[in-house]
Amino acid sequence: MKAETFDRFCAFLEQHSGILLSRDKQYLVETRLSRVARSKGHASVESLIETLLSRRDRMLARDVVDAMTTNETLWFRDGYPFAALEKKFFPEAVAAKKATYRIWSAACSTGQEAFSISITAEEQRVPFNLEIVGTDISEAVVEKARQGVFDDLSLGRGLSPERKRQYFVKANDGWKISPQISRRTQFRVGNLLELRPESRRYDLVFCRNVLIYFSRETKAKIIDRIADTLVPGGYLILGASESLTQLSDRFTPERLPTGGTAYRLKS
Ligand SMILES: C[S@@+](CC[C@H](N)C(=O)[O-])C[C@H]1O[C@@H](n2cnc3c(N)ncnc32)[C@H](O)[C@@H]1O
Repeated sequence: MKAETFDRFCAFLEQHSGILLSRDKQYLVETRLSRVARSKGHASVESLIETLLSRRDRMLARDVVDAMTTNETLWFRDGYPFAALEKKFFPEAVAAKKATYRIWSAACSTGQEAFSISITAEEQRVPFNLEIVGTDISEAVVEKARQGVFDDLSLGRGLSPERKRQYFVKANDGWKISPQISRRTQFRVGNLLELRPESRRYDLVFCRNVLIYFSRETKAKIIDRIADTLVPGGYLILGASESLTQLSDRFTPERLPTGGTAYRLKS
């Protein structure tokens, strides 16, 4: 692929998704887009990109952005945020006599994070109404989260056999999450670059392992918009290796009793 085509594609991808590719990622574009190119009848990835950049084809843009996302996720990823639901966030919601507690799983991929939150709530028998909203830019993963069907390999990544027995039922093509868990969750397509103010705010936002793909400037903008979606004193949890340092002064970091950090919105 010509360097100029690669550069123009990188600009397109960043504009549409925030995902920033470094110069050495040409192989990644070739690998991820070869299937899309073939399925659309293009002889090469370069030809696919030329078409993408010369036409306003929303479906093609969606398929290309989808193919460029990294959807790696696990059940109960990193452990501590889910232990913190049990030790801190849910007890605080009970103490505050909340009738409804709202959690946003931003960049939720195939839904494991949202379902892990719901399983934790089920096991803690939370007395309030818990609403968990999962959003992701990729339509393919959002559809998979809505289906809630997982194979043994993906269930094996972080889910204990006891929880599999308790919360899944055998389906034709894998294991389906039970309604007892899925009833608290809803999934929709959402681009973090296009966040709009919502009428109902969140008590807690999980935005984990996605900011790493963005420029510092994009991260700062997204964090600012996320702050606007939180209730006063609401919390944000980032990925284990991510931090808000030099990105926002609207939050105070708090060490969690279970390890890791949560960021509390200043009132
Ligand atoms: C590595 S996964 C992280 C999933 C989950 N949060 C976790 O920590 O296990 C990153 C997800 O971010 C999504 N993503 C990338 N850019 C996005 C954007 N601009 N808006 C929303 N989601 C995005 C990808 O589609 C992908 O599913």
